[in-house]
Amino acid sequence: TFILGIEGTAWNLSAAIVTETEIIAEVTETYKPIAGGIHPREAAQHHAKYAASVIKRLFAEAKEKGVEPSEIDGIAFSQGPGLGPCLRTVATAARMLSISLGVPLIGVNHCIAHIEIGIWRTPATDPVVLYVSGANSQVISYMGGQYRVFGETLDIGLGNALDKFARGANLPHPGGPKIEAYAKDAKKYIHLPYVVKGMDLSFSGLSTAASEALKKAPLEDVCFSYQETAFAMVVEVAERALAHTGKKEVLLAGGVGANTRLREMLNDMCEARGAKFYVPEKRFMGDNGTMIAYTGLLMYKSGNTLSLEDSRVNPSYRTDDVKVTWIREEET
Ligand code: ATP
Ligand code: FE2
Repeated sequence: TFILGIEGTAWNLSAAIVTETEIIAEVTETYKPIAGGIHPREAAQHHAKYAASVIKRLFAEAKEKGVEPSEIDGIAFSQGPGLGPCLRTVATAARMLSISLGVPLIGVNHCIAHIEIGIWRTPATDPVVLYVSGANSQVISYMGGQYRVFGETLDIGLGNALDKFARGANLPHPGGPKIEAYAKDAKKYIHLPYVVKGMDLSFSGLSTAASEALKKAPLEDVCFSYQETAFAMVVEVAERALAHTGKKEVLLAGGVGANTRLREMLNDMCEARGAKFYVPEKRFMGDNGTMIAYTGLLMYKSGNTLSLEDSRVNPSYRTDDVKVTWIREEET
């Protein structure tokens, strides 16, 4: 089976072709805003501008591996969640491909794609997933026939919170890696608000308090304290989800997962609990076309395709709204 998938929920336009066992090709064009954060309309214009050339290059790469467009069985696209204008642009490209190749469309939930690629590319089989990216922060696990959200942010995603604090400190975008670098030279931990409500998280107060703290404390100390506080919050929720579900694996997903300190804290927690900790290769952690193509392949094989009429995008598509048709028998 060959599935072509297109990702474009935010700043990354990325398309890939996969089989059950192999990535045939992947081509990515990243939108880089001139200043500040993402402007949804500009990002969408970027995707529209590059869609045709990305697909052309993808087909050229696939051809080198002996795969022709006529062999493709389905077109997957990120249906949501994400920025409306970006999603619509990508869906339009997917519909055109689906019509011209005469193959079905597959509407993929972006968050679930982050999970499925992690399960594909690591030994994890049935993990508790900590998914921390720019816009999203969720603790997810498969239970009772669906991917359930055990805890999530009540305001902004951890990546956006880090970026927001970094912008205030005049650090270039994206702020996450810069904060990580400064944190390494810290001398002292300063107290910042730790906000876990039940199983849910809140980061906006932390960002505000950290920006305030910069008036009195060195940047290195604030970056360090920010990381220690925010990461302890997400690790606490992941740990409680492990205890609650009785699962034995933790999988890290999303762009913030690049952070070494976060990995170290999760690893310590897993060791203490006798759980395995898995992190996929970095190229599979941020947004990528391969994760959409691969999840699309799982869906396609379980008969989960879309008619054109049902292919509308859903900017607030929830992880727990997805009908999971492709999962192995649930372990008990
Ligand atoms: P999504 O659409 O899933 O919300 P996204 O498009 O915002 O994702 P990702 O690539 O998953 O993008 O994640 C980007 C975020 O990851 C940015 O906010 C960035 O600051 C953060 N990030 C990247 N590297 C690091 C790091 N080393 N430490 C902390 N945060 C990081
Ligand atoms: Fe993402």
